[in-house]
Amino acid sequence: MNRLTLRGFEIYKGLLDVTGQQAIVAAVREVVKSAPLFRPETPNGSSMSVRMTAAGAYGWFSDRAGYRYVPTHPGGQRWPAIPREILDVWDRTTALSRQPECCLINYYAPDAKMGMHQDKDEADFQWPVVSVSLGDDALFRIGNTTRGGKTESLWLQSGDVVVMGGAARLTYHGVDRIKPNTSTLLPKGGRINLTLRIVE
Ligand code: SIN
Ligand code: MN
Repeated sequence: MNRLTLRGFEIYKGLLDVTGQQAIVAAVREVVKSAPLFRPETPNGSSMSVRMTAAGAYGWFSDRAGYRYVPTHPGGQRWPAIPREILDVWDRTTALSRQPECCLINYYAPDAKMGMHQDKDEADFQWPVVSVSLGDDALFRIGNTTRGGKTESLWLQSGDVVVMGGAARLTYHGVDRIKPNTSTLLPKGGRINLTLRIVE
């Protein structure tokens, strides 16, 4: 494991070994069984390229009415609990006694990406967002606390964890692309990103 800081984001390269990654993927599969992946619509009516679901008291959701946290899956059921293996990553990287209330699960097929954005739908930005990368490599771009300006990118690999907190909590970030066939963790390829958030 190698820890570095880029624009205030703490990057733990290789925090999770393959066994740990496999255990989390197995737990995510259980979540997806009761809360299937769906493709959210953006407020302007286009559909996102990532597919999503969530675990915890809240899931992040988007449609023409805007971005928000909701207590139920679009199918009507409550989100499943956040698996212990995933909460362990929060505990290892934040050492906070407060636990996250949302684990957003994003699945990137080979052609999926995510535009530059801030995570700002939570009530209190004193709490960090913890992001876990699983599967294919992703080109992650980090900008500034306001839109635009110079950016820096790095490749996130399976098992890497990023903590977005402190002065960098509202820093713009996004995923330009993923690189297919760079990991064998997911049999069908692609990338899973988990983000742990305190919502209320
Ligand atoms: C996100 O910002 O919500 C996702 C980041 C990532 O996929 O690495
Ligand atoms: Mn984000």
